[in-house]
Amino acid sequence: MSALKVALSSDHGGIELRKTIAHLLESLDVPYQEFGPEANESVDYPNLAFTVANKVATNEVDRGILICGTGVGMSIAANKVPGIRCALVGDTFTAHATREHNDSNVIALGARVLGPGLAADIVKIWLETEFEGGRHETRLNQIAAFEQAEH
Ligand code: RB5
Repeated sequence: MSALKVALSSDHGGIELRKTIAHLLESLDVPYQEFGPEANESVDYPNLAFTVANKVATNEVDRGILICGTGVGMSIAANKVPGIRCALVGDTFTAHATREHNDSNVIALGARVLGPGLAADIVKIWLETEFEGGRHETRLNQIAAFEQAEH
C-alpha cells in the first residue's frame, strides 16, 4: 500500500476524525497531504472537497479522503469534479464493494455519524481493496462517457 499517495481534508465538523485518519495513514506508511482547519473555526466544505478532488483528478495523488459532519456535502461537491468517483461510506461492506465495483477514488465519511474505530476500519479496507475491472469497468466507462458528453 506504500505506493498510494493520499489527500485528506475535513471541515470543522471532522477535525477530530481527520486527525485519527492521519494517524492511521502514518501507521500504514501512506504519504498524505492534509487540508482543513486546525481549530473549531467554521469553514465551508466545498472548496476543500474541490482541492482534494482536483489533486486526485490530476493524478497528483492517488486517492482522496473527505470528512464533514455527515460526509454528504463533501461527497456531493467532490463528485462535481470530472473523473471523481466519490463514495459516501458508513460500513465496511460498502468500503470493500465500492473499491471492487466502482473503483472509487475518493471516500467521504461522516464524523458525526461514525465512531473513530469504524471509520479507521473503513479507510483501511478502502485503501487495501483493488478494483475488479471487467463488467464494472464497462459501467464506469458509461459514467465517464456521460460526464464527457455535451449536454
Ligand atoms: C457543517 O455544519 C455541516 O453542514 C457539514 O459538516 C456537512 O455535514 C455537510 O454535509
